[in-house]
Amino acid sequence: MKTVIEPFKIKTVEPLQFTTRPRREEVLARAGWNLFCVPAEEVLIDLLTDSGTSAMSSRQWAGMLDGDEAYAGARSFYRFEKTVRELTGYRHVIPTHQGRAAERILFSILGGPGKIIPNNSHFDTTRANIEVSGAEAVDLPTEEGLAPALVRDFKGNMNLAALERLLKQQGRERVPLVLMTVTNNACAGQPVALGCIRRVSELCRSYGIPFFLDACRFAENAWFIKTREPGCRARSPREIAREMFALADGCTMSGKKDGLVNIGGFLALNDGQLAQQARNILIVTEGFPTYGGLAGRDLEAFAQGLEEVLEEDYLRYRIRSIAYVVEKLDALGIPVYKPAGGHAVYLDAAAFLPHIPPQEFPGQALACALYLEGGIRSCEIGSVMFGKTDPETLAFRPAPLEQVRLAVPRRVYTQSHMDYVIETIAAVFDRRRELRGLRILSAPPLLRHFTARFEPL
Ligand code: F0G
Repeated sequence: MKTVIEPFKIKTVEPLQFTTRPRREEVLARAGWNLFCVPAEEVLIDLLTDSGTSAMSSRQWAGMLDGDEAYAGARSFYRFEKTVRELTGYRHVIPTHQGRAAERILFSILGGPGKIIPNNSHFDTTRANIEVSGAEAVDLPTEEGLAPALVRDFKGNMNLAALERLLKQQGRERVPLVLMTVTNNACAGQPVALGCIRRVSELCRSYGIPFFLDACRFAENAWFIKTREPGCRARSPREIAREMFALADGCTMSGKKDGLVNIGGFLALNDGQLAQQARNILIVTEGFPTYGGLAGRDLEAFAQGLEEVLEEDYLRYRIRSIAYVVEKLDALGIPVYKPAGGHAVYLDAAAFLPHIPPQEFPGQALACALYLEGGIRSCEIGSVMFGKTDPETLAFRPAPLEQVRLAVPRRVYTQSHMDYVIETIAAVFDRRRELRGLRILSAPPLLRHFTARFEPL
């Protein structure tokens, strides 16, 4: 097989900032050993997130100039609405400034005390928005999904038996909707099979419960279905994506991922009454229904991004660029979640640092070590993000996985940047026994990973 090359050439460049190790030590201490608190200027390769960090194409930039900034009924909105309708098939398209705004609107209508909202795995803001509404967010990952070294095709699937049990016990009185996150971000960016989406759809329909996709990375998921699911190879990513959406009743979307834009999101759905309620909330907090917190130019770039993200050359390169890193790390014997997911490389911090127990945050320790070693910023997805301390017994409940996510911004870094990342991880792996855990000095009650302060043990 020939090298899968970046399917673009570079038109505008932005210089990288090189820093020294002593400088990074100073910066990290000042940031309370929390990489979210490190200024981006102090980072060489920024893999904190794939969200809002994409490089836009020349066509998207052209759209930015062409944006119609009318308050009501802008041409850019109608282009955006048409694009989303054609992609998803949903009747009502409600733009929001990003994904969590769509989540907040949806859960403030359907959530509330006593309600339970299941998902294959909720990501951080989704869980937080459900909990803020007073409802309970329940994760139903598969056992395979929680086994980092096991190679299977669709480790992002939902545990269907567990969903069936939950629906049977709680019924539609307590379960106002079922969500499915594609790809599954809390579970190493693993894809969900079309067969699994179909089964969840059937179950939800038999109970009369709405089924929504958390569709941030729908195109990457569609590519995995095309290349792995029997009978799908001859289908286009767009056709597969359309079927995914058709099996659900609506979706929340963060355009900052597979929309290939720096800001933007939407809520799209078929239920007219629910859409009306959502628009009423939108007007109070986001904006008029034809812009929802975005500029006309943002809608223009977003519509264009939704077209480009489904191009086969792009998706082949995108998925290959992650697998390239995972294969190299695996060959070096470095514990990495397998197989490669769609948007990020996930290191298995529990296996990387077996001498650091979950309550001393091995993922956070590893993420900090990668920054000190090579100026690489990654993100802990483990017990800092999802661990809990029981308020009554004070017992520590670790997250199901201790991961470090190196999320790869879309169309931003080249293969040599990734080779540098591999070398840096390998250097830290060689002296892994020297690494120490961390202790939390202060943390807010909700979404603590963003602002908590730590101290090395
Ligand atoms: N759902 C999933 C699965 C996500 O990964 C995110 C964001 C959101 C919803 C919320 O979207 O940021 O536009 O409000 N995830 C980012 C990340 C932040 O780093 O994975 P948003």
